Formats: sequence, C-alpha cells, structure tokens
Amino acid sequence: MSFRLFILSISGVFAFSAGMISFFYESSWLIPVLIFLFTFILSFLILNAVFERFIYRRISSIYKLIHNLKLGKELKDALGDQVYEDPIADAEKQVRDWASEKHLEIKKLKEMERFRKEFLSNITHEFQTPLFAIQGYIEALQEGLLEEDEELAKKFLDKAANNLDRLTYLIKDLNSIYRLESGKTILNKEKFDIIKLIQETIHYMEDNAKQKNISLLLRTKPKSTTFVKADKNKVQQVLINLIDNSIKYGKKGGTTKLYVFPLIEQILIEVTDDGHGIEETHLARIFERLYRVEHSRARKVAGSGLGLSIAKHIVEAHQQNVHARSTIGIGTTISFTLEKV
Ligand SMILES: Nc1ncnc2c1ncn2[C@@H]1O[C@H](COP(=O)(O)OP(=O)(O)OP(=O)(O)O)[C@@H](O)[C@H]1O
Ligand SMILES: [Mg+2]
Repeated sequence: MSFRLFILSISGVFAFSAGMISFFYESSWLIPVLIFLFTFILSFLILNAVFERFIYRRISSIYKLIHNLKLGKELKDALGDQVYEDPIADAEKQVRDWASEKHLEIKKLKEMERFRKEFLSNITHEFQTPLFAIQGYIEALQEGLLEEDEELAKKFLDKAANNLDRLTYLIKDLNSIYRLESGKTILNKEKFDIIKLIQETIHYMEDNAKQKNISLLLRTKPKSTTFVKADKNKVQQVLINLIDNSIKYGKKGGTTKLYVFPLIEQILIEVTDDGHGIEETHLARIFERLYRVEHSRARKVAGSGLGLSIAKHIVEAHQQNVHARSTIGIGTTISFTLEKV
C-alpha cells in the first residue's frame, strides 16, 4: 500500500467514526455528513503533515542516499534528480537487493582470500623443495666432498644444476601466466593445419611416452577441414602440456588418443588417456595456478601445477573454451576448441 493511500484510509476511518457518533445525536443527515467531510479533510491534512515531516522526508532522504551510493556518482549525474513514487517500498527493495549483492561479494572475497592463501603456500612449497636441495648439495661440496669423492661431487653438482633448471622453468611458467593474465601476451594468429601440428607434437613427445610405454595415437575423420586460425606456437604449448599430463598421470603401457572433430565454426581437439582419472572434487580446480591433486604430489610426479593453467589461459586468450572430464579408473579427457578457417 502506498503512503498516501494509507493516510487516506486512516482519515476515512476517523471521519466515518465521527460521522457515526454524530448520527446518534442528530436526527438529520446533513450534520453527520458535514462532520464526516470536515473530520476527513482535517485528519488527512494533519496526518499528512505529520508523516511528511517526521517519516516520509527522512525515509526519502535515506532512500536517495542508498540509491546514489548504489549507482555511483557518474551514473547518478547522468540520470539527474528523480522523483520517487514510493520511497518506502523502493528503499525496502533496494536494501534487500543490496544485502544479497553484498552477500555474494563477501562470498567471492572469502573465496579469493582462500585462493590467495593456498597459492602462497603452494608457491612457497614449489620454491622451497629445489632451493633446499641445492643448499644441501652445495653444503656437502663446501664440507670437502670435492676432495674426498670427486665422482659423487660431480653428481651433486649435476643435481644442483637440475634443481636450478626446475626453478628457472617455474619462474618462466609463472611469468608466462602473469603475461597471459595481464593481457601482455600478443597472439600471432596464422592459418595452419591442426592435424600437422598434432603430428609434429606427437613426434616431439614420443620419447617421453616411450619411457612409460605409452602409445600416442591421432584419430581424425579423413578429408575433413582441419585448418585453424590461431597462434601456432602457443597452441603447440597447449598440446604439449596436455600430452605431458596424459603421460605423467597415465598408466604404464596405456594409450593417449588425440581426436580432432570439425564443428560448424570451430575445431574441437580432445586429448584422452586411460590413466587413473581425477576425482570430481579436484576436477573443477585443476586449471587453477599451482593446483595439484594430492596423490600427484605424494607420488612425486614432477610438476608444479602450472601446465593446465597456462593451457587454459592460452585457449581463453583465443576466445575459445577448454573443458575437462574424467572417470576414476577409466581415464581423463581434456578438450579445447579453436577457430576454424
Ligand atoms: N590427464 C590427467 N590425469 C590425471 N590427473 C591429471 C591429468 N592432468 C592433470 N591432472 C591433475 O591436475 C593437476 C594439475 O595439472 P597441471 O598440468 O596444471 O600441473 P602438473 O602436471 O602437476 O605440473 P606442470 O604441468 O606445471 O609440470 C596435476 O597435478 C594432476 O594431479
Ligand atoms: Mg602438467
């Protein structure tokens, strides 16, 4: 009910009561009708003035304040001063909307806070492991290992160098994520045949796959158009990261299949393995920076949890999509699309 209708109703009730009372004392209709009208007008004027002064104006100004805070200065200036029909109902609605908006915002901020904490702890862990190893090897050399056992000292130096390489890769990967996230990476789009690129990448990864006796197979429809428009080097990076995962987390003697499906305006590429798979709870998070499923850490499979994050950033920089599905005990499929020529 609007504010004025409310006052009209109360005045009506007053006027009706006054009219009825005077009707008991008067035999004619005229006086009660006049009393009714007089009471009605008087109560309306008094109530209106009281409400206007003490309630309506205050609520109206609170409402304006909420409205302006919500819109921000620029939008408010653009809209100019508006007349509000029913500030009480509007204020109630806006406060409700505002509360639910704030609730969502707080939820998001809490999520980001959790993510930040996890990220810091992961990054510390990733840097700590190789750094402590290097420190250990150097200390052993300083304590005279070089003179005592030259062969072991050489091995330690190699291991220290490997750990330094790992740190370098980590920093390079983090840097490339930063560049992709901040839009500093420029894509050099060109037309190329994705089948050819997949074949080259399979060839490049074959030695890796052989170490676990994994076969890399390409499956595609014959004679279909497979030309895409994308940054070739970056797409190869995506393919390498996905094939690398399928080998690292695939089973010994397993198979990784690469499918190419031409869609209407896109080409869909799928990398499927028959490894252990990823639990539902982890699946949604594997594209996060530095996220690794616990058993990957426990089993000491080398990696820092950046490969999929880089892949996702590259695909999304092309305004395309990447998707993961997995079934425990059956395997994992990571798919992404590219623009078809
Ligand atoms: N094909 C897969 N099968 C099972 N688990 C997978 C697969 N691909 C990714 N994962 C899980 O997702 C996590 C994140 O993968 P991602 O490629 O981002 O990092 P990584 O392989 O651990 O390290 P990096 O790629 O940086 O060397 C992995 O640690 C692994 O637990
Ligand atoms: Mg990886």
